[in-house]
Amino acid sequence: MSTKHLTWHTPQVTKLQRARLKAQKPAILWFTGLSGSGKSTIANAVEAELVTRGHHTYLLDGDNIRLGLNRGLGFSDRDRVENIRRIGEVGKLFVDAGMIVLSAFISPFQADREQVRGVVEQGEFIEVFVDTPLAICEARDPKGLYRKARSGEIPNFTGISSPYEAPTTPEIWLRGEQMSLEELVASVLSYLEERGYLVGEV
Ligand code: ADX
Repeated sequence: MSTKHLTWHTPQVTKLQRARLKAQKPAILWFTGLSGSGKSTIANAVEAELVTRGHHTYLLDGDNIRLGLNRGLGFSDRDRVENIRRIGEVGKLFVDAGMIVLSAFISPFQADREQVRGVVEQGEFIEVFVDTPLAICEARDPKGLYRKARSGEIPNFTGISSPYEAPTTPEIWLRGEQMSLEELVASVLSYLEERGYLVGEV
């Protein structure tokens, strides 16, 4: 549908005011990686630590969003593009609300991740590559999906019958299988601390 007859209204309360109330610099921590790489586990643990420290966060998680907002979208390239586009827009709204957003989606296409980077301001998109080799994800197979993908029961499965374009210059690069969960969480937290996302003055 055309947007010709729509007008953007700038709200009276600004993002900066909302962020200041929360004493943090809002951003999206965009976790990307194969199914079973540990995205959700790490994002959950980072969120728990942020909340313990008094921060205001929100977690957007692949399966949960697909069971609600994005119900009806499948795993064709086209549907994955739309999945990520919508999540980017939702993430942008939460950033505008002053939150630190954590998203955990495979988001296999570089162009889609860059598209999301483009809808928020500089420094508000933090790409976190959960770099766990396919063989390890497949051995873990927490939901039994790789087995089904190998047998042909699930088509277009990322890493098996659908591509995953690994980030080349992520802000945070996590070697999922080489570090403990505590170490992975600590490295994300120190990135945020060092760059001033967690300070009162924004
Ligand atoms: S994305 O590719 O569009 O970013 P998303 O993160 O939302 O994927 O959803 C991935 C989750 O959906 C996986 O963790 C898995 O549980 C489930 N899933 C079901 N079918 C597929 C498939 N064909 N490829 C990848 N994941 C699938």
